[in-house]
Amino acid sequence: MTASQKLSARRPVRSYVIRSGRLTGGQRRAIERFSAQYVIDLQPGPLDPGQLFAKEQALTVEIGFGSGESLLQMAREQPHTNFLGIDVYRPGIGRLLQGMVRHELENVRVICHDAVEVFSDNIGDAGIDRVLILFPDPWPRKRHHKRRLVQVEFMQLVSSRLKPGGEVHLATDWPPYLEQMMEVMDQIPEFRNRFGGDGCWQNPERPLTRFELRGRRLGHEVRDLLYYKSGS
Ligand SMILES: C[S@@+](CC[C@H](N)C(=O)[O-])C[C@H]1O[C@@H](n2cnc3c(N)ncnc32)[C@H](O)[C@@H]1O
Repeated sequence: MTASQKLSARRPVRSYVIRSGRLTGGQRRAIERFSAQYVIDLQPGPLDPGQLFAKEQALTVEIGFGSGESLLQMAREQPHTNFLGIDVYRPGIGRLLQGMVRHELENVRVICHDAVEVFSDNIGDAGIDRVLILFPDPWPRKRHHKRRLVQVEFMQLVSSRLKPGGEVHLATDWPPYLEQMMEVMDQIPEFRNRFGGDGCWQNPERPLTRFELRGRRLGHEVRDLLYYKSGS
């Protein structure tokens, strides 16, 4: 059974809870007005990145962009990259759409759905250049560890969707999750740490995120990891 079949055969353990954050009026209006243009209406079967974006260029997928500020900043700074953001948090989607419209960004598209299912069912093999998973929910309680997004099966699936040489950038402020991330990535032979062994990325090229700022205020140490997919 492939990683994708195993994931869909089982009753899903979600890596998120739908937070009941209220939409502001502006966020609601942005969702109403701009979803047709920027939020992908998922249909069964793999998406064609060539059809989603105005230009065909390198593709970065951010899983769990939260309120979307860092995705917006990356998309502004890297106009020659397409960004696909996946999250289920509607206030964040509204906020991201507001920013995209304000800055007239054409290189971002959004999916409002469970990323595990999207990777399994809607993303074809070997099409992604980079996957970002920045500050995934840490699920600190032991009985919740199974909800953590970074698990072997899911990262095998991510690997199958990456181009050879494609990268996975992970960040967390929760040391036990950092350990889990390294253990998971070590179990997938095609992933290699850019910085060797258990090396962390000391000066990661990415904006600060909202969740990270909260962690830093609480004195948490932030760590980034960068892996690439070996093979041709
Ligand atoms: C802790 S927040 C971090 C948000 C953002 N990356 C930041 O650093 O500010 C994790 C985000 O991941 C999203 N998320 C978790 N599991 C997900 C999944 N399976 N599919 C899509 N989004 C998910 C949550 O809705 C939430 O917005």
